[in-house]
Amino acid sequence: MEKVTVFAPATVANVGPGFDVLGVAVEGLGDVVTARRLDGEPGQVRIEHVEGDGGRLPRAPEANTAGIAARATLALLGVEHVGVGLALRKGLPLNSGLGSSGASAAAACWAVNLLFGAPLDRMALLPAALEAEARVSGRHADNVGPALLGGFVLIHTYDPLELIRLPVPDDLLFVLAVPECELPTHQARQVLPANISLQDHVTTSGHLAALVAGICTGNTRLVGRAIRDPIVEPARAPLIPGFAQVKRAALDAGAHGCSISGAGPTLFAVTDGESTAQQVAQAMKAAFADAGLASHTHIGRVDRVGARLI
Ligand code: HSE
Repeated sequence: MEKVTVFAPATVANVGPGFDVLGVAVEGLGDVVTARRLDGEPGQVRIEHVEGDGGRLPRAPEANTAGIAARATLALLGVEHVGVGLALRKGLPLNSGLGSSGASAAAACWAVNLLFGAPLDRMALLPAALEAEARVSGRHADNVGPALLGGFVLIHTYDPLELIRLPVPDDLLFVLAVPECELPTHQARQVLPANISLQDHVTTSGHLAALVAGICTGNTRLVGRAIRDPIVEPARAPLIPGFAQVKRAALDAGAHGCSISGAGPTLFAVTDGESTAQQVAQAMKAAFADAGLASHTHIGRVDRVGARLI
């Protein structure tokens, strides 16, 4: 192929108690990467066009998540005879907690792989996507995993990198409330405790295990009840204006659970009915407004596909 265009979805990392080990892709939002062969530039990656970022993302390929991922994919493929030109269309706001850098990295990996006949499967491409994410936001695969693979992805181990795809409950709906402010991941990681108590470890293990059980058995109420996190959420909550009120509003409006999406400031809630989801979205938006923050909301099912040709 001479040119391919790939979409990769937004992701909710952590999903409450699964800090750095659980993430899920959500339908309807994402980034788009077009990759084309550069026959005169062997082994090179060039960022040819970026839109939707307000001019803020680096254009140097070694500093751009899509560029890093494309280079790493070329290396995995062993392609040296041609180069790749990339055009990036950002659908995801930067520093929003929706896996913006991970979506660009996943889309770039899949696009470059397709450009050369798709010799690698998605799992084999993960190290390339993770290399990009590690360079720009930290070595965590809970965004790039689901952005590339779709669905719920559990990171069993990082060394070696071993991911497990979980089933998707049919009726599960995500409500995302995205405030108009930014929270860089590195900043949100600085506030995390270096050590935790054994009691917090036990409590969080129980919630994460229950969450995975709820996901695997299609029990959306259990999924919601297990979205509890005594470690990361309280550390980050002060960084998000109105956090407690927005979460309270979501639960009062009928959400089964609510927490911070990735590093924030987006909050996500889960529910299982379209009309409840609408009410939850309205309540979260109103609560952010009460805290002085404009926001937009999005309701989506789990994206089961991940990165795909469009
Ligand atoms: N697990 C990461 C964090 C995701 O919470 O810092 C960042 O998007």
